[in-house]
Amino acid sequence: MIRINRLIFFVFLLLSCSTLDAQIVPIKASGIVARSIAVFTPAGFDRSETPSLILKHKFQITAPVPKGWKLRPQFSLNDEKASAVFDLKGEISLYGGGEVTGPLLRNGQSIELWNTDNGAYGTDNGKRLYQTHPWVLGVRKDGTAFGIIFDSSWKAVLITNSDKIEYSSEGALFKVYVIDRRSPQEVLKGLAELTGTMEMPPLWALGYHQCRFSYGSEEKVRSIASTFREKKIPCDAIWMDIDYMEGFRVFTFNKKNFPDPKTLNDDLHKQGFKTVYMIDPGVKVDSGYSVYRSGTANDVWVKQPNGKEYHGKVWPGDCAFPDFTMPRTRNWWSGLYKNFMQTGIDGIWNDMNEPAVNDNELPADHRLGTMPYTTPHRGGGDLPAGPHLLYHNAYGRLMVEASREGIIAADPEKRPFVLTRANLLGGQRFAATWTGDNLADPRFMKLSVPMSLTLGLSGQPFSGPDIGGFLENTSGELWAQWIGFGTFLPFARGHACAGTNDKEPWAFGSAIERTSRIALERRYRLLPYLYTLFYNSYKTGLPVMSPVFFDDPGDMRLRSEDQAFLLGNKLLVVPAYAKDPALPKGVWENLSLVEGDRSDAYQAKLFIKGGSIIPAGKVVQSTTEDLLAPLTLFVCLDAKGKASGELYWDAGQSWAYKKGDHSLLKFEAIKKGKTVKIIVSSRTGNYKIEKDLKALQAVVIDKRMTYRGSGDLKNGISVVTR
Ligand code: NOJ
Repeated sequence: MIRINRLIFFVFLLLSCSTLDAQIVPIKASGIVARSIAVFTPAGFDRSETPSLILKHKFQITAPVPKGWKLRPQFSLNDEKASAVFDLKGEISLYGGGEVTGPLLRNGQSIELWNTDNGAYGTDNGKRLYQTHPWVLGVRKDGTAFGIIFDSSWKAVLITNSDKIEYSSEGALFKVYVIDRRSPQEVLKGLAELTGTMEMPPLWALGYHQCRFSYGSEEKVRSIASTFREKKIPCDAIWMDIDYMEGFRVFTFNKKNFPDPKTLNDDLHKQGFKTVYMIDPGVKVDSGYSVYRSGTANDVWVKQPNGKEYHGKVWPGDCAFPDFTMPRTRNWWSGLYKNFMQTGIDGIWNDMNEPAVNDNELPADHRLGTMPYTTPHRGGGDLPAGPHLLYHNAYGRLMVEASREGIIAADPEKRPFVLTRANLLGGQRFAATWTGDNLADPRFMKLSVPMSLTLGLSGQPFSGPDIGGFLENTSGELWAQWIGFGTFLPFARGHACAGTNDKEPWAFGSAIERTSRIALERRYRLLPYLYTLFYNSYKTGLPVMSPVFFDDPGDMRLRSEDQAFLLGNKLLVVPAYAKDPALPKGVWENLSLVEGDRSDAYQAKLFIKGGSIIPAGKVVQSTTEDLLAPLTLFVCLDAKGKASGELYWDAGQSWAYKKGDHSLLKFEAIKKGKTVKIIVSSRTGNYKIEKDLKALQAVVIDKRMTYRGSGDLKNGISVVTR
C-alpha cells in the first residue's frame, strides 16, 4: 500500500524529473549507528514495504555521518523498483555476494538474488543460487576496507563492477548500511555487529559427515556406520535423506525400512555416531496425514490471491507450504520437532526451502522454480503482509529460525545443529550451509574453495560442498583430490545423488581408502584448533576459513588467490591441484599431522605460520572419544624465536559455555639459548580442561627442524633444540 506521503513524493518526483527513466530519490536520513557504520535511508522508505529480515537488532542513529565519509549511495526508483548505486574510485578488490559461482574476486561479476534450486550450476547458469546475500566487501589498495548491506529481501540483481556497485531490486525502497574500517577483518566484525554471529555448534558437527540420497534402510545405515569403524576412518554423523520418510511425508518414518528409528539412533550413538535427518518445507496434501491436518487446523498454509491453499509439486506430489512469515506458523512448525527429536535425532537438514516447487501453471518467468511472484504472505508480528517477490528470499531463513527454535525447545540442554540449503544474509544465526547440488567434476571441486570462502566473507562461516560431487558418478581420482583438501573446509560432508556410484571413503579401492583415512585423520587432529576458530567466529564474526589476502590485506598479489586458503590466521592449506598459488610472505613451515600426509600426493599441503602455536588432538574415530589425550602444541617460531596461540574448549554439546563454563588457554613460546619454553600465559573460564586433557606435549618447528617435549599446563613445556 502506497501511503499518502509517498504519493505526494512521487507526484513531486514525476513533475521534477519527468524526462528521466529512473527517478533519483533523495536521502531522507543518514547517520552513524555503530563504530564506523553509517545508515542511509531514502525519502519514501517505508518499513511496511521492505521489512528488515537481515539485521539482528534495530539500530538508532547516534551521530551525523562525518563530512569526509565518501561512500554514499544514490537511490533511484524506476517504475516503482528501487535501486542503489555506489560510484567507486581507485583500485578496489570486490568480494561477497554470499553463495556465488565464479572466482573469489568479484570485480566485473553480477548475480541475481532469487533463491533457486539450481542443480549442476555452472559458471554460465550459476548467476542464481540457493541463497541471497545483498552484501559487498571492498578492499582498497592500502588494505583498508568497506562493506555494504542492501537491507532488502526483494528479488534483485547485484552488479559489482570495479567503478560501480549496483543493487537493483524489483521492490520498494530499502535502507543501506555502510561499514568503513581499517581492514577487511574489521569490516566483517562490523557485519557481525549488525547481523549477529553463528552460535557455537556442537563439537560433533565439526567432525566428518557421511550422507547419500539415500541410505534407504536402517540395515544400510548400520552397515555404513560399521564400515567406518571397521576400517578406522573417522566419522561423526550419518545422514538420512528423504527416503527415511513414509512417502516423503515430513516428520514420519518409513514403516518398512525405518521401523524403529529410536533403536537405530540409540545403536548409532553407542558406536559414536550422531544422526541428521532431512525435513523439507513442502507438506503432502493428504487429509489422512496428521501434519497436513494440523497445519490446516492452525491455518498456517500459504494461500493464493483468491484465498485458496497454494499447492505445488515436490517429492511427495502436491504439497502445501507453511507461510513462515506468520508467527503462528513458526510456532506450529517449531512444535513439530518435539516428538520427532525424541527418537534420538541429533541434527536437522532443511532442504528444498527456497522453496523449490517443480511445477506451476504460470510461465517460468513469473515464478522461477517456485510459487508465483504474486502469491501473498500474511506476515504478522514485525513482518508486514507482502507478496512472494518480497518474501521468497527470506523463506528458508524464516524456516530455519523456526526449526532451530523447535529443536532447542525439544531439548533445551543441547546446542542444535541445522543445515539449510536456502538462506538470507544474517542467516548464519540459525543454520550452517552447504553449497547445493554440485557436479562430480574437477571444475566443481575447484569451485568449492571460492564458494566457501565467499560465504565466509558474507557472514556465514560454517559451509562446505558435497565432497566428491553430488550429481553424476565420481572417479577415484576426483574423490581423492577432493577429500585431500575438503577435509579442511569448515563443514566436511561426503554426499551422493540417487543413481550415482558409491562415494564413501572406501568405495574407490584400498589406495584411495588410505588417502581418505589420512585426510580425515588430519581433520580430526586439528579439531581443537578448528573448534577454537569456531569460537572465534561466534565471538567476532570472522570466518573459519579465510582468503590468503587476510594475511596481508595490503599485498595486492594475494587478492585473487582462491586455490590456497587460510584456516584462522595460522594455517595455510594448499590443495594438491593448486597451480602456482600466490602465497603469503614470511615464515610458513610444513606441518605434518599424521603419518603419510606428506608423501600421499592427494593430500593438501599444510603450512604453519612462523610465530604460531596450533593446538592439536589425537586421532580419534569420533568426537565422543578423548580428543585431548594428549593435547599437542605445534609451535612454529618466528624470526625472533617467539610464538603464540590459543585453545578454546568446553563440554562440547551444552549451553554451559555461555555461562563461563568453558576454557580459553593462551600459550606463549620463547626461545632462550637452545631451550624453547612454552607456557600457558593466560587462562579464562570455569571449565576444568584437566578432565579432558590427559597429557600435554609440544612439537617445535625451528628453522625446518622438529623437536619434541612434554609437560603440563601448570609448569609448561621445555624443549631443547640444537
Ligand atoms: C536436494 C538436495 O540438494 C540434495 O542434497 C538432496 O540429496 C536431495 N534434495 C534429496 O533430498
